[in-house]
Amino acid sequence: MKNIQLQNITLAIIIGLAGFAALAANGCAESQKVKSKSGAQLWAENCQRCHNTPSPSSFSHDQWTTIGMHMQTRAMITDEERDKIVAFLRQ
Ligand code: HEC
Repeated sequence: MKNIQLQNITLAIIIGLAGFAALAANGCAESQKVKSKSGAQLWAENCQRCHNTPSPSSFSHDQWTTIGMHMQTRAMITDEERDKIVAFLRQ
């Protein structure tokens, strides 16, 4: 009897761990998808919600850095996303 209870607990722990592992793996897959996006892709997806996307040639390198910080707060994007977009725009 005691043995069966122990088995049940072990089984519950294993199922719990498997569920957690599946969740964790899934979460990583999602952030991997975001990480794999290029600056051009992020620019197209985030920067034309409110206005047309100005072309990379419309501003200087320094201006793009400032605009990146300015528009990051508007577009609510991460530092990493902003850096990628600014790197793309500074080409
Ligand atoms: C939530 C709306 C919104 C999003 C998203 C947005 N912008 Fe803007 N953008 C504005 C507004 C409003 C202005 C007018 C200037 C101001 O008052 O901020 C502007 C102005 C600009 C300008 C003119 C120069 C300046 O700084 O004023 C540039 C260039 C620009 N945005 C680029 C971008 C880029 C690149 C992105 C993507 C990272 C972006 N914007 C995302 C709202 C947005």
